[in-house]
Amino acid sequence: MASPATATAAANSKSKQSPISPSEIQSEFSHHDPTIARVNNGSFGCCPASIIAAQHRHQLLFLRQPDHFYYNTLKPSILQTRLLIQSLINADHVDEVSIVDNATTAAAIVLQHTARAFFSSAFQPGDAVILLHYAYGAVKKSVHAYISRTGGHVIEVHLPFPIKSSSEIVSEFEKALQLGKANGRKIRLAIIDHITSMPCVIIPITELVRMCRDEGVDRIFVDGAHAIGNVEIDVKGIGADFYTSNMHKWLFCPPSAAFLYCKMSDELSDLHHPVVSHEYGNGLAMESSWTGTRDNSAQLVLPEVMEFLTRFEGGLQGIMTRNHENVVEMAQMLVKAWGTELGAPPELCSSMAMVGMPACLGIKSSSDALRLRKHLRECFKVEVPIYYRAPLEGEVDPVTGYARISHQVYNVAEDYHRLRDAVNKLVTEGLTCALLLK
Ligand SMILES: Cc1ncc(COP(=O)(O)O)c(C=O)c1O
Repeated sequence: MASPATATAAANSKSKQSPISPSEIQSEFSHHDPTIARVNNGSFGCCPASIIAAQHRHQLLFLRQPDHFYYNTLKPSILQTRLLIQSLINADHVDEVSIVDNATTAAAIVLQHTARAFFSSAFQPGDAVILLHYAYGAVKKSVHAYISRTGGHVIEVHLPFPIKSSSEIVSEFEKALQLGKANGRKIRLAIIDHITSMPCVIIPITELVRMCRDEGVDRIFVDGAHAIGNVEIDVKGIGADFYTSNMHKWLFCPPSAAFLYCKMSDELSDLHHPVVSHEYGNGLAMESSWTGTRDNSAQLVLPEVMEFLTRFEGGLQGIMTRNHENVVEMAQMLVKAWGTELGAPPELCSSMAMVGMPACLGIKSSSDALRLRKHLRECFKVEVPIYYRAPLEGEVDPVTGYARISHQVYNVAEDYHRLRDAVNKLVTEGLTCALLLK
């Protein structure tokens, strides 16, 4: 098996064989429902057939001789995954990398750690956690469950949307930090998305992390659920204490696998997996590698994923660049066809973009957006999430609905044309959300 450094370099280099062809890509994703134009990689990711086959081989290794697998294979294989992630994210030490099920689990680890500081009186009631208003719903609920209920105060940073530039994000974040401190609060934890989910925008995390450090925020957790395989991650450059990303969204792993990076510090020994097992007390990476008997195969396919990446021109970097360029091109095609605007400039789009939808669709609430999404799925076979934005006072004919489109290697221009034509048909026929069945 190739060393992690070699594998990562290989994954980013040009393949010696001829690059994967469009028909080979389609065959890698031939298990996708062929009737659906799937422009929503962001929600659940995707897994190519060759990786599903690899996952099955790992599952059979377990079923063939479970004891041998447990005693001799599982931990070295998880270590291999951790080493590959260490190299992909530029972490100093493999002990800083734990493999967990998903970003939700990573958030629970970080927030339970913070809650213990409230319980032990290291943090006081009224001390604050700061996060973006656009933080992921499950993360916000975790903050409520672990922090608010232990006496912590929550500061939400409101960001404008649509957004013109990252400086708007920086200045809103700074205002919220200053306001929190002016009220005499100690800000104990900042939770910052690398790419927000809905609406999706790349957040200038390096700048925000630096600002938090300058302002004396104790701990910083970056929720990069959408990041690995989508944008570059350099955890040393970012400088946060904790960073998580899902490997099943943009890195072709099967559902579900994620990593949690925890910067080396004295506190590392007090981080625990929420599921207590025989490994309790042996360090987070060990605790996370055994949470009782389960199927670990999704966490073990990373070496095969690295091989898969070498089949693409420019490896992972090439995939990310092309996905970004293609999603921007398709987003611009859609806003032109619909007479609207992008929700964020191209440099704040990753492999996902927010596309304004025609105001005449009458999207007046989040449930309207959900109904329209269902209608597009059922009547036009297009899968795309839609974001509702409340109009500002005095706005005339505001765009209140934004389609979040994704581009992954399996997407073709026709997927976006289907979305364009479906929406145009609704507009021509005068359909509004009010006419869709509740
Ligand atoms: C920003 C963000 N954080 C966390 C999550 C949770 O990821 P998971 O459901 O894989 O735990 C998501 C899922 O889409 C997300 O977008």
